[in-house]
Amino acid sequence: MGGDKKLFTPGPLNTSMTVKEAMLKDLGSRDEQFLQAIRDVRSSIIDVAGVSSDVWTTVILQGSGTYAVEAVLQTSTPRDGGRLLILANGAYGKRMETMCKVTGLDYDIIKSSEILPMDLIQIEEQLKSGTAYTTVCIVHCETSSGVLNPVEKVADLVRQYQPGASMFVDAMSSFGAIPLDLENIDFVVSSANKCLQGVPGFAYALCRKSSLEKCHGNSRSLSLDLADQEKNMVATGQFRFTPPIHTMLAFLQAIQEFKQEGGLPGRAKRYSENCEALKAGMAELGFKALVNEEHASYIITCFLFPSHPNFSFKTFYSNLSAKDQIIYPGKVTDADCFRMGNIGHIHLEDIAKLLATVKEVLAEMDIPIPVTY
Ligand SMILES: Cc1ncc(COP(=O)(O)O)c(C=O)c1O
Repeated sequence: MGGDKKLFTPGPLNTSMTVKEAMLKDLGSRDEQFLQAIRDVRSSIIDVAGVSSDVWTTVILQGSGTYAVEAVLQTSTPRDGGRLLILANGAYGKRMETMCKVTGLDYDIIKSSEILPMDLIQIEEQLKSGTAYTTVCIVHCETSSGVLNPVEKVADLVRQYQPGASMFVDAMSSFGAIPLDLENIDFVVSSANKCLQGVPGFAYALCRKSSLEKCHGNSRSLSLDLADQEKNMVATGQFRFTPPIHTMLAFLQAIQEFKQEGGLPGRAKRYSENCEALKAGMAELGFKALVNEEHASYIITCFLFPSHPNFSFKTFYSNLSAKDQIIYPGKVTDADCFRMGNIGHIHLEDIAKLLATVKEVLAEMDIPIPVTY
């Protein structure tokens, strides 16, 4: 089968061997050992967020990150008079609009440039416009571009102008690696195989208890109902439906490794160093980043396609993949670019190897270095 591919992507991401090994065990969904694992996973997420379990609860949901995003939209929107405000500056914000359309939720959306953070003045105006919102939604790190949004400032505005609304942050690709103050936030989601470096298989929503309590009966979907998932978990300590047992065992090992690395500051340091090395190395090869440094996160970077006629993303991607280096296509609408992520079980030596391989592949494609535009 060969060795592991190195994943410089927004996910799935590389995991350590010890995290993978933690899955080599079967447990029953009602075994006390597994019930303890559930309690540990839930409390570990509260600990990573640095909040109190008196005020917050973690709801774990089988599936990928999108399931948790959709679950928050479903659960937090009342059947009568519910209206969401979606703040979208990239593909993941826009996906929330698709969810509303598909499930018939009423919403307004502010769409703005994919290479800039959301504009606070525009948001303030909308919040003051007289329309009452029940949930305001934003993505923390727009993984489609790497842009970081000022979510805490948006949350302050929501509390100021729409105190009745819940504030929802999709922190899928930032939770555990970029600090987030939850003071004025009600719902935060992420998933197992992002910055906490478990394997894929479940997502989680950190919910302010007082906000979740108001949500019973809202969801138009049974499996995505966070209030019901939580109610059952509190009553029985178990999942409603088949739990992601192996994924949760892997996650507990991943949390140990997160702590060993120094928690969020440790992880932020490694990811920042990875990102710096990646950007410096790519700049040396002539590649230009799409997003200005001041708006960029240290999670993922978009690089513009160089203009040389021999450059084809398909060939670039497959030649890198043949050498076990996996990058990702672009996901912004109006620029030809590709993405390179630097999160997951990735270290400086992996970045160095990626850069050396990019150099080799450019030579194979007969594209002179530095590349030009
Ligand atoms: C910010 C953000 N939101 C949502 C998602 C969707 O998550 P998934 O692909 O796990 O469903 C992603 C995936 O990378 C993401 O980065």
